[in-house]
Amino acid sequence: MMHILVVDDEEMVRYVLTEKLLESGFSVIAASGGQQAVEFFRNTPFDAVLLDLKMPGMDGIETLKELRMLDPEVPVIMVTAYGDIATAVEAIKRGAYDFVEKPPQISRIMVTLRRAIEKASLEREVKKLGKNIEESAVLKQAYEKLKELDQVKTAFLSSVSHELRTPLTSIIGYAEISRKKLLKLIPAMSDDDPKTTKSIRQVEENLGILVSESGKLAGLIESILDLTAMEAGTAEWRWEPLQLREVIEDAAAVFSPVFKEKGLEFSVTIEDDLPMIKGDRYRISQVINQIFTNAAAFTDQGGVTCSAKRVESTIVLSISDTGRGILASRQGVIFEKFSQIGDTLTDKPKGVGLGLPISRLIVEYHGGKIGVESEPGRGSEFTIVLPVEEEMGI
Ligand SMILES: Nc1ncnc2c1ncn2[C@@H]1O[C@H](COP(=O)(O)OP(=O)(O)OP(=O)(O)O)[C@@H](O)[C@H]1O
Ligand SMILES: [Mg+2]
Repeated sequence: MMHILVVDDEEMVRYVLTEKLLESGFSVIAASGGQQAVEFFRNTPFDAVLLDLKMPGMDGIETLKELRMLDPEVPVIMVTAYGDIATAVEAIKRGAYDFVEKPPQISRIMVTLRRAIEKASLEREVKKLGKNIEESAVLKQAYEKLKELDQVKTAFLSSVSHELRTPLTSIIGYAEISRKKLLKLIPAMSDDDPKTTKSIRQVEENLGILVSESGKLAGLIESILDLTAMEAGTAEWRWEPLQLREVIEDAAAVFSPVFKEKGLEFSVTIEDDLPMIKGDRYRISQVINQIFTNAAAFTDQGGVTCSAKRVESTIVLSISDTGRGILASRQGVIFEKFSQIGDTLTDKPKGVGLGLPISRLIVEYHGGKIGVESEPGRGSEFTIVLPVEEEMGI
């Protein structure tokens, strides 16, 4: 129900206005002067005010000023003496919504009131919207800041990795040379002393560990550089029409012995006449290799199957294993970079968790999608959807 404040020094006017407004379904409080009106207004929320312009003591203009100061959003309609247009205009300049002339015509007052109330409520909505827009601007700013920080971090990671690359190459090189030299020297050394022989073997073994471990480190650095370059958009892509069958079969040839050695079954089913895709052969094979590597790493029994078929205007490549599976809570996370971190206590990670994030970047760069479905303890199925060539428009 709309709540109206009627202000008039003439009792008759107050009475008539109040009666008519009540009849029309408003609720009304009437004040006999400016002072009292301000008092009421201060204590009760109103939807609109009908304010007599000419009153003894505190007049309409003054009262208007006070009311506007208390709440500028409540519309005030001035009730003016016939012919007092100049003062009415003055009132409007000071923020009154409109004016009606005395003797007040009830129908006109109703129309004006309803319009005034509607306008005020619209204004409140607009203000709220404006606030929302402001808020989303703040959010956007925060997001930009976060993105910037992420970029700084990526740039830092990339430059550190670059710095590590050169000394690491020397470490690997020297370790390899030392090991080879030592191997050559061993036959020439006296094997009289079994202790010495044992020590020399030990050194040779240690050098071997040094080579293989720093090789892993080099692999990690390459992954980081790969990822950061892709994220920064500086990675090179070589687009060509691709026969996915060839890429899959090449990867399968490499991994077949790996699976076999682990005692895992391995089967590949590729639909005949698979359409071509447009893509980067090296990158796509990187993705398939990564998923095969993971399948081998996380599957101890059973097997791995790989299939590719056309579905509408896409090729769906799916690789499933009967391995340990992935918890539902982790399924969304494993495509985020360094998702491994934090998981170190629960199960000892074999890698750093860059394989899948890189794969996702590659697949998405091809306009495709990568996802996983998995049941812990039963296995995982990775699915890659790539658009066929004619759909890509590159
Ligand atoms: N086939 C799978 N079965 C079970 N878990 C998997 C499988 N593939 C991936 N995961 C889980 O997802 C994580 C992330 O995989 P991702 O390939 O990104 O990293 P990673 O293999 O640990 O390390 P990286 O590939 O960088 O050497 C893995 O550590 C593993 O926990
Ligand atoms: Mg991996």
